[in-house]
Amino acid sequence: MTDEFGKEQAIRKLAPGKLVIASHNKGKVREIADLLAPYGMDVISAGELDLPEPEETGTTFIANAELKALTAADLSGLPALADDSGLVVEALNGDPGIFSARWAGPDKDFGLAMQKVWDALGEKGPDAGRDAHFICALALAWPDGHVEAFEGRVDGTLVWPPRGDKGFGYDPIFQPIGHDISFAEMEPEAKHAMSHRADAFKKLVAASF
Ligand code: IMP
Repeated sequence: MTDEFGKEQAIRKLAPGKLVIASHNKGKVREIADLLAPYGMDVISAGELDLPEPEETGTTFIANAELKALTAADLSGLPALADDSGLVVEALNGDPGIFSARWAGPDKDFGLAMQKVWDALGEKGPDAGRDAHFICALALAWPDGHVEAFEGRVDGTLVWPPRGDKGFGYDPIFQPIGHDISFAEMEPEAKHAMSHRADAFKKLVAASF
């Protein structure tokens, strides 16, 4: 297949069989296993295989997802899927971005992380816009070093104070466009249907199966 510039686009299909999820987060692995079950994928986690977690040294979501997927594929000898996601605030030049998890500190305190976002926005002055989006990058890698990446996005506005107790991370301060409730006030099914993760998975499924 070629793109609009005539450049070869390598879209490799994923054959049914074993797939490593390059994550040690059990919740994430379960969610991905459920999403991929209809495509005949037999999912194993990097945790179950005792694979080390590489340091996320990339400067983009895609670079970090690719790094994690390539490491897991290389070490396991199996195709591997990794994700990297975060909140991007336009007025903060993209922060917290790839550092979204790190802004919560070693105690993973997202109350603190949300406060940091709000304080940083306050420092930009009263005219700073509240536009923000979530990004999810998914990378699929094979043991021969081939890798493909897919990026999903959902746009919204930051709200303050935080609202709702569903979801996780920055959900209480993110209100998706076209809605008047935050991600943390939504039923999980409603969030999952419109999220950056759903968008990235749609692209992966369309290209890879
Ligand atoms: P990682 O992709 O597991 O490295 O985590 C990225 C971080 O981005 C998470 O710890 C959350 O802080 C944030 N994040 C990613 N997706 C969401 C979401 O759907 N809601 C709220 N926060 C999110």
